[in-house]
Amino acid sequence: MDFKHDPKNDFKSIDDLDKKEAEKEIKALREGIEYHNYLYYVKNQPKISDSTFDRLFKRLQELEKAFPEFQSEISPTQKIGAPPVDRLKKIKHTVTMLSLNAALENKEAQDFDDFIRRNTGQEKITYVVEPKFDGMSVEIVYEGGHFKYGATRGDGQTGEDVSENIKTIRAVPLRLRSEEGDEVPSFLAVRGEVFMPKKAFQELNKKRIELGDNPFANPRNAAAGTMRQLDSKKVAGMPLDIYFYEILSIEGMEFSSHWEVLHQLPEWGLKIDKDNRRCESFQKAERYRDELNQRRDELEYEIDGIVIKVDNHTIREQLGTRQRSPRWALAWKFPPKKEVTTLEDIVVQVGRTGMLTPVALLQPVEVGGVTVSRATLHNEDEVHSKDVRPRDKVRIARAGDVIPEVVERIKERGKKRGKKFFMPDECPVCGSEVFKEGAYYFCSAGLTCSAQLIGHILHYASRNAMNIEGMGEKVVKKLVDRELVKDVADLYHLSVDDLKTLEGFAQKSAENLYQAIQGAQEARLDRFLYALGIRHVGQHVARVLAREFNTLNKLQKAEEDELQEVPEAGPQIARSVHHFFKQEQNQKVLERLQESGVQVKPMETRAMSLPLKGKKFVFTGGLDQYTRDEARQTVEDLGGRATSSVSKETDYLVVGEEPGSKLDEAKKHHVKILDEGEFKKLVEKL
Ligand code: IVH
Repeated sequence: MDFKHDPKNDFKSIDDLDKKEAEKEIKALREGIEYHNYLYYVKNQPKISDSTFDRLFKRLQELEKAFPEFQSEISPTQKIGAPPVDRLKKIKHTVTMLSLNAALENKEAQDFDDFIRRNTGQEKITYVVEPKFDGMSVEIVYEGGHFKYGATRGDGQTGEDVSENIKTIRAVPLRLRSEEGDEVPSFLAVRGEVFMPKKAFQELNKKRIELGDNPFANPRNAAAGTMRQLDSKKVAGMPLDIYFYEILSIEGMEFSSHWEVLHQLPEWGLKIDKDNRRCESFQKAERYRDELNQRRDELEYEIDGIVIKVDNHTIREQLGTRQRSPRWALAWKFPPKKEVTTLEDIVVQVGRTGMLTPVALLQPVEVGGVTVSRATLHNEDEVHSKDVRPRDKVRIARAGDVIPEVVERIKERGKKRGKKFFMPDECPVCGSEVFKEGAYYFCSAGLTCSAQLIGHILHYASRNAMNIEGMGEKVVKKLVDRELVKDVADLYHLSVDDLKTLEGFAQKSAENLYQAIQGAQEARLDRFLYALGIRHVGQHVARVLAREFNTLNKLQKAEEDELQEVPEAGPQIARSVHHFFKQEQNQKVLERLQESGVQVKPMETRAMSLPLKGKKFVFTGGLDQYTRDEARQTVEDLGGRATSSVSKETDYLVVGEEPGSKLDEAKKHHVKILDEGEFKKLVEKL
């Protein structure tokens, strides 16, 4: 059994495994998963698809559940978080986690090189240049090759125990890798930087804004905030990554240079950055710094400079350290990506959730290679604390180098300034009353505000909501601009002729969209609730509420305190849901949706009738729209059973990406075969 090289190996039914076989398979699965993690994260050369990986992972989880005697703290399945804690414990570091002296000017960096050459009598120094990752520094300790704990830097002597959070980061191995016969150190403390890639950061912030949470200011704050979470299960879903860059202490092994260390770390499965470079002189290091500065925007993660480090360990020792920083390394910062321009006006933008955001309209300016003509001012308080007004000169930065932001006003004497900014009392788009929540203002109109409408319709039609295929941004904009749709209920009154009048539409495409809309008239309560786009009601909350109240009618009538008692709901959600259903406009839209034939199915009746009672399902290959758990749960909710192997008793085989030998088996037994789409249709119809 070798899942490293033969991951498609088919699985025996768990019921048929004896203890010995299970132990053997668990061992092989763990090794296979660790190996494929290594290929994916460290080598950046995955050999198997995500779905095959998920299949191995799932199987290991199932085996560990069925044979708890083989559970282990360092199993790759232990990367999903632990119960929350009240506070983070303190941890004393194995050695002081030093900080770095920083240079901003080239002259300071030149002085650093001069100092080292003078003090060591060397003519030329070999350096290692590494990107200076903008994240959170951590110490991770492995004992006997096994993950022991992980801690934040804190004050350098003592940090906070964030072991559970660190364990959830997929690129952190719980066991050090060793090639056959090679030994791993009996003790190893490594230092690395936990960070959030730029793209993941943007997506996370988008989601937070949609849910009404404050966005993180930059990827570093996002990484640091996440790392200090008390509930590691929440961290498990976060897109955190890590690069390792120093050994803090090690037993039983010595290295003569940093470059050697950087070769060894990945051998143990500890990921290093591919942009680290050895430079044989200061001049070469300087050139590489300029190159990285040029490429800065293309990198997938934020860097704010380079770290230039003496390569040779003997020279490092000769130089020694100051109280807080080594003499052999320097953080050489890039100049900040900021530019000065004129703020022409402050306008208010209305988002899907109705949130009003002040936006600065700028005289276009290039900031770090990107032309910026708008920048967010976040909220009214921020406009006031920065004291910016139309006609002011302002400094612009790309915050976290992603979203352009107004950093500060540049004072100019004797210049006539524009008017102080205040949020309007009425929504700038629909004129409805504006209300305030925390530091943010919202349009109270809900589904009838036209600025929100485009976003709402897109959300209503999205895959996890009503799933109307073909209802993309361009179409929705046209429908709203042409006033063919004033609320989501209008969608159901569109005729083929209406759709045909849209630019780019012909008879056939209009008919297709018409069918897609008419086909989206039925939805289970949780999907419908999610589709309504109520603030703070994402998919999960929608499911929780739907399970609790069962019918739309009951939920609509629920009082705020009743809503608050729903586990996981809390006051913010309760207030938002209550407010939504109390709004007259929203009530009207809901009535019209019902009149248009939209049927909201209660959760319970569906489950109580158990339409799949007695039916046996087997899944093979990776599914796109469901995790295995969700697929299984769906079948079980409807009274069916999901089993792991195909037999003549099996009723359905659901085939995903890269199906295993179960497909042949199913054909042999004439089992009905469904692809994912067919499976989805089947369960949604019931
Ligand atoms: S080496 C004794 N290498 O920068 C050497 N630090 O301003 C200590 N950092 O707290 C650090 N990238 O969090 C090192 N490639 C890198 C780094 C790096 C980012 C951070 C680290 C440190 C801070 C100092």
